[in-house]
Amino acid sequence: MTPNLKYLHPYPFEKLAQLKQGIVPPADKSHIALSMGEPTHATPHLIQEALLTHLHGLANYPTTKGIPELRQAIAGWISRRFQIPVDAVNPETQVLPVNGTREALFSFAQCLIDQALAAPVPDKLAAYTPSLAIPRPVVIMPNPFYQIYEGAALLAGAEPYFLNTLEDSGYLPDFDAVPDEIWQRCQLIYICSPGNPTGSVIDQASHEKLLNLAAKYDFVIASDECYTEIYDDETNPPPGLLQTAYNMGNTAFKRCVIFHSLSKRSNAPGLRSGFVAGDAELLKHYFLYRTYHGCAMSLPTQHASIQAWQDEHHVIENRRLYREKFTAFIDVLGEVCTVIKPPASFYVWLKIPLPAASPFSKGGLRGISDTEFAKQLFAQQNITVLPGSYLSRDFGGINPGLNHVRIALVAPLDECIEAAQRIKNFLNSL
Ligand SMILES: Cc1ncc(COP(=O)(O)O)c(C=O)c1O
Repeated sequence: MTPNLKYLHPYPFEKLAQLKQGIVPPADKSHIALSMGEPTHATPHLIQEALLTHLHGLANYPTTKGIPELRQAIAGWISRRFQIPVDAVNPETQVLPVNGTREALFSFAQCLIDQALAAPVPDKLAAYTPSLAIPRPVVIMPNPFYQIYEGAALLAGAEPYFLNTLEDSGYLPDFDAVPDEIWQRCQLIYICSPGNPTGSVIDQASHEKLLNLAAKYDFVIASDECYTEIYDDETNPPPGLLQTAYNMGNTAFKRCVIFHSLSKRSNAPGLRSGFVAGDAELLKHYFLYRTYHGCAMSLPTQHASIQAWQDEHHVIENRRLYREKFTAFIDVLGEVCTVIKPPASFYVWLKIPLPAASPFSKGGLRGISDTEFAKQLFAQQNITVLPGSYLSRDFGGINPGLNHVRIALVAPLDECIEAAQRIKNFLNSL
């Protein structure tokens, strides 16, 4: 076994299952699941129909590169969505289909990280032995985060370095706070915009700053943009990394790879369909890696994905549904606590009122921790939310997930309203 396996943390949902173990929620309240980021709006008919129409494609092995029509549909979507010329993205060299972004975010680091660049390396083995405290390649990522980034870094033999995203800075990463020594060792940075769990959006000026740092220190930016299509303001969609790169004159997208998915955009998490796009040189190597990795996308899925990337009607409707839920949820819960409406994503990153050290704590459940909050909410109201600290690490003396819970507004509207009411009752009872 690779020794790096022992550094992997249990996945947040395993911890959550443990937390809830043995608790019997009230039988008179139906369960409302708001913990997983699993969309429950209907998968569009056009996706289902294309899947059925192309079922005969199961008779063939698909290729790693995918059919040209899919890569063309994706390149066309990137150009329309991010307002760059139609020929700005070459579907032959700058696009690859992936089976959902999760596997791609993980495998990309395995392909990219160069152990030989760990410095100093006294012998070959030492580079693979983190306990020897040898400066290893660094992978930078936000904190809190999508845990795949951390696992990918650790299994690639790199050292994760966290960028705390806190309320004071609008839940955005502060690239200026990273020491020079870390940039020197950085080979890869994951950014997530819109962010999971905070829903914050990285603007073009911050993209520019990061692109300049990447050029200066020669590292790669993996931009996880799988929530870009779930946003509040129809006139102000979140910018993408390739868009900024192109506008800066980096028309070859050097050091940039974006990750997009149909899971959230098109309510098709079971389809396992997404893409990576960007720097042709990087994708050439990643393509080679993927041929061995063995994760080609089935032909029916490719045809269904073409339909999905070419249609925006269902995506507009999807956003309308989330907007409706945010408004209704905040209308109710906002009566008893501050609920920040994020510019994008379907998450409420709720700061638990009255933090643990509050002088106003009067015993009982006041000053409740995020894990206790989630546990008691399940026990009393039969609602599952995710404790913030399950998505974060202690870093620089701070754990940005503490005193937060992540509430995914994925349930139907009436359930979200019911959940807001029950959470309100719960808070009132503390
Ligand atoms: C931030 C983020 N990135 C990537 C993914 C992976 O999504 P998928 O593999 O369905 O594309 C998720 C899933 O929840 C996510 O929250």
